[in-house]
Amino acid sequence: MEFRKRTCTCGELRPEHVGKTVTLNGWVDGRRDLGGLIFIDLRDRYGKTQVVFEPQSQPEATETAKEIRSEYVLSVTGTVAPRPEGMIKRTMPTGAIEVRASELTILNKADTPPFPVADEIDVSEELRLRYRYIDLRRSALQRSLLTRHRMYQIVRKYFDELNFVEVETPMLMKSTPEGARDYLVPSRVHPGKFFALPQSPQTYKQILMVSGLDRYFQIVKCFRDEDPRADRQPEFTQIDVEMSFIDESDIMSVVEGLVVRLLKEINGVDLPAPFRRLTYDEAVRSYGSDKPDLRFGMPIVDVTSPLAGKGFKVFDEAVARGGVVAGIAIPGAATFSRKQLDGITETAKKLGASGLAYVKVHEGAIESPIEKFVGAETLHAVVHAMNAEDGSVCALMADVPQKTFSVLGDLRLELAKRLNLIPENSFAVEWVTGFPLLEYSEEEKRYVAMHHPFTSPRPEDVPKLRTDPASVRARAYDLVLNGNEIAGGSIRIHTPELQSDIFRLLGIGEAEARSKFGFLLDAFKYGAPPHGGIALGFDRLVMILTGAKSIRDVIAFPKTGSAMSLMDDSPSEVSPTQLEELHIRITE
Ligand code: AMO
Ligand code: AMP
Repeated sequence: MEFRKRTCTCGELRPEHVGKTVTLNGWVDGRRDLGGLIFIDLRDRYGKTQVVFEPQSQPEATETAKEIRSEYVLSVTGTVAPRPEGMIKRTMPTGAIEVRASELTILNKADTPPFPVADEIDVSEELRLRYRYIDLRRSALQRSLLTRHRMYQIVRKYFDELNFVEVETPMLMKSTPEGARDYLVPSRVHPGKFFALPQSPQTYKQILMVSGLDRYFQIVKCFRDEDPRADRQPEFTQIDVEMSFIDESDIMSVVEGLVVRLLKEINGVDLPAPFRRLTYDEAVRSYGSDKPDLRFGMPIVDVTSPLAGKGFKVFDEAVARGGVVAGIAIPGAATFSRKQLDGITETAKKLGASGLAYVKVHEGAIESPIEKFVGAETLHAVVHAMNAEDGSVCALMADVPQKTFSVLGDLRLELAKRLNLIPENSFAVEWVTGFPLLEYSEEEKRYVAMHHPFTSPRPEDVPKLRTDPASVRARAYDLVLNGNEIAGGSIRIHTPELQSDIFRLLGIGEAEARSKFGFLLDAFKYGAPPHGGIALGFDRLVMILTGAKSIRDVIAFPKTGSAMSLMDDSPSEVSPTQLEELHIRITE
């Protein structure tokens, strides 16, 4: 169709353009009829402009304008005019002008959209995902895609400046054990054989180091068939990094530089580097999590020592069974009603606690139902150890260590949200290191790698691989931003011997190791440099920097919580012919 192409966008006209004849192309954001006059707001990616149709001077265009509905696609030509004083809309960049239309072409009609293209809409996410093309017209989503775009550019520029090489690795690769479940792709030309979509380019990037690439990065899609969660997608993007002839500090400083630059350029925030470091043990004991949110305090304090054997049965029995007593000081809670404190206990119970004991710190005095058992002196020692300020309430819990720390950690997060203790627009970032190399899986009755099977043990712990595998620590590190794990990596094993040892420990036999990872073990025989790397979860990073509520709001076409794409209705059945070609029979 012939149409008048735009001479400017819907976001750029200002008072200095008054008098100019312009053409706008865009979507109808809304139409209002007012005593013969018709007003429309025309929208495109760049903004909105008010267009006026005046029946006296432009009868033809005004007649056509009467047909216009929301989301029609138009080409409008007219003259830029100042809005009358009083009609100036200062919140809108184009709010001082309007375009008096002289010509109108309807480029396309539109059905009534299932929801309005507005900032605040109250519709189900299902509907939004089904009509994603309309959802994506909303300015909030356009802004997050734009920020995402800027972040790609910053990342590429950063790594290029540091001499990293971006290398694409295959999307069709070998299915290997460990990690999450693979998404499989059947081969037509090799009956009964399958490719897997990469869970990450882990083995490829290590092989690139063997090949001498030295510094690799890639912005890359990864696929994991795992149970979905709010911050997880089956298909997500990593900023993947690998380096040779380095140790932990090199990886960390490269990543710190990137995160500092992103925060500066995207959020205007100066993040101090080097970032704080916590060991896994500290993180778990002080925050009940391997990804603590450090935007606020309220650390967990172990108060077993002042309280053990002081005559409060619940504590004494827990300690006798090998448990601990620990607590968090809830600021401002001294003035809470009985009902509010009961509410906190209920929350703790839902999280797995069998109960909580409270110590109130109020105007220098201490008040607690357990005072009659343990005495005031003990409680003063507890309050002192917990650094509990006046006006707070110490919530204490006794149980086995792991449960105590994790319940208090969850309670800490829950209370911080409920009591508004998390400052807005703040960023707290930290490294967590010193992870165990292995984790015992009750389900599989064997050790599994906590990070992945290519992670190097600490050299001083290697002898313990045979005697006490659970105590071996990994040369692994996670980066945590506002309580989200945004990156994880490790220094790798680079000798075939140690790699084979680890496979054996993980219960991967000689034959399986050969058939699944033979290529990597072989590569290590031909001169593998010491190397290590990391991968940042790009979607999570965009989510945090844009303040989006969900990872789905920073992905153009995300999957639902049940790993489906509602817009194109996938996954879906395929034809019998396709199945036959792929040598696949559906059994149910
Ligand atoms: P890891 O499995 O820790 O490491 O992944 C790195 C980062 O990717 C993000 N992430 C996800 N984001 C969205 N949805 C998911 N399902 C998802 N899974 C992970 C997280 C995580 O920190 N190859 C190694 C890295 C290495 O050792 O170099 C790896 O993939 O932010
Ligand atoms: P707005 O502030 O853009 O929502 O405008 C408020 C209402 O004032 C609109 O719905 C219009 O009907 C009307 N209006 C806006 N601009 C003009 C104008 N230039 N002349 C007359 N009425 C206007």
